[in-house]
Amino acid sequence: MSTDTIRDTYTHVIRKVRGQATSDGAGVKLVRVIGGPQLPDLDPFLMLDEFGTDRPEDYIGGFPEHPHRGFDTVTYMLEGRMRHRDNHGNEGLLTSGAVQWMTAGSGLVHSEMPEQESGRMRGFQLWINLPANLKMTQPRYQEFAAGSIPVAHPADGVTTKVIAGHVGDVVGPIAQPSTDPTYLDVGLDAGTEWEYELPAEYAAFLYPFAGSVIVGEGQDARTVETQALAVLGGGSRLRLKADGGPVRMILLAGRPLREPIVRYGPFVMSTKQDLMQAFVDYQEGRF
Ligand code: FE2
Repeated sequence: MSTDTIRDTYTHVIRKVRGQATSDGAGVKLVRVIGGPQLPDLDPFLMLDEFGTDRPEDYIGGFPEHPHRGFDTVTYMLEGRMRHRDNHGNEGLLTSGAVQWMTAGSGLVHSEMPEQESGRMRGFQLWINLPANLKMTQPRYQEFAAGSIPVAHPADGVTTKVIAGHVGDVVGPIAQPSTDPTYLDVGLDAGTEWEYELPAEYAAFLYPFAGSVIVGEGQDARTVETQALAVLGGGSRLRLKADGGPVRMILLAGRPLREPIVRYGPFVMSTKQDLMQAFVDYQEGRF
């Protein structure tokens, strides 16, 4: 298909994936949607975890000191408070609605700890790959409180928080040229429809976290239920319709890197040798 044909064609659901309940850090209960056996990655997306619980024992242990090298981590807090601290002297508090986009690059050691003892903790952590030539870039942060994330109302009953990418003239604050990501939090009121143009030939998915959504047009239309991830493809015109009640979802798109991925735990490199080097550098305190 030519790029023009893709632009005129409706996106449809290529596959649906359910996450797997697991725990990470010091016993934080979460659902791994990308990065588990069903969907090891969706280039350039390496991992998607959803955490959401109102039981303190499911999150209070947090994520004590651990390293990262070779990719971006994106934390989107829907509810709760999380403090992060790294070994380069950076520290910050993520509160409800905040986004932290961390380019781990050559590496850092950090902790991500809940700063609350009760109530609900809810959000997402997404890992996005870096191209081989940027894996050893300087670590950097792009961090935005809820009030600094622009909100677009592209149609009646449609509310979109634009974390990265754009909705009409509303542009998200995050810049990451290597994967050119779109990251939207989309809310549709009951009965609402919305059409959005995805970047052609990018990897894309959506994940409803409240309510369910109908994706596509005519015979290709499929319902995507709460906590099902829909891999999107086949066209650029994304048609969404709230299925029954209101729905809220995250919608992501990014340019695939089409490079080898050699990963183990918190290190994602392009060659086995670079992966081994990451372990050595970490053990010898070079992060
Ligand atoms: Fe981390």
